[in-house]
Amino acid sequence: MTSVKIISTNDGSHTLHSERHNAHYHSTNGAIQESFHVFIKNGFDYIELNKISILEIGFGTGLNATLTASSAKITKHLTRYTGIDLYPLDEDLLLKLNYTSFLNSSDIENWDKIIKANWNEEELINDFFYLKKMTADFISLNLTDRYNLIYFDAFAPDDQPEMWTCDIFKKLYQATEPNGIIVTYCSKGIVKQALREAGYIVSRLPGPLGKRHMVRAIK
Ligand SMILES: C[S@@+](CC[C@H](N)C(=O)[O-])C[C@H]1O[C@@H](n2cnc3c(N)ncnc32)[C@H](O)[C@@H]1O
Repeated sequence: MTSVKIISTNDGSHTLHSERHNAHYHSTNGAIQESFHVFIKNGFDYIELNKISILEIGFGTGLNATLTASSAKITKHLTRYTGIDLYPLDEDLLLKLNYTSFLNSSDIENWDKIIKANWNEEELINDFFYLKKMTADFISLNLTDRYNLIYFDAFAPDDQPEMWTCDIFKKLYQATEPNGIIVTYCSKGIVKQALREAGYIVSRLPGPLGKRHMVRAIK
């Protein structure tokens, strides 16, 4: 079995390092600040809909899902969230992460339910947040639903180039609702180009602490 190790990032929050991909799950400049900046501030908060469907590529530790569940509860935007991952992490490992030191009691309740939720079943996490964690290889997965918001949180293109191709983004474009958006922490030229070729209109935004830019693209 390949190993996954706990690492501290610069904001004090933990992330993981995957031996299989030789990659970190979040920015070492700060896992929580990155997740909040890229996916909540520039993703969830940007969508002005009372009902939001979200697809996450790379569910990982469930940090993005946890912050989204809290935002959904605060904004009262009914959110259905599908998080896909090929390598689900053990609950025992997730319980060792120090996210609870950074979260309020309502967030911690969400986090606890999210890490304990069954895979491949839709579960209610709070009154405004439904979660389905799906084990699947995104590369071969056939998407049948449409989403208002896509969190693209694969390992970086240098570590996992097969996740950042134009074909992958074309598949996501087909699965994006009109005016829907995709957000990602990576603003490399090849990524923006692949998103454009897939059909998205691409914007470069200020990045989280320690990174100059991130990307938001709209259908
Ligand atoms: C950058 S991490 C995601 C971090 C996560 N969003 C979080 O909040 O902790 C990338 C994730 O992609 C997953 N992954 C790698 N290859 C995949 C594939 N082919 N299909 C689906 N998920 C994959 C990894 O297991 C890992 O959890």
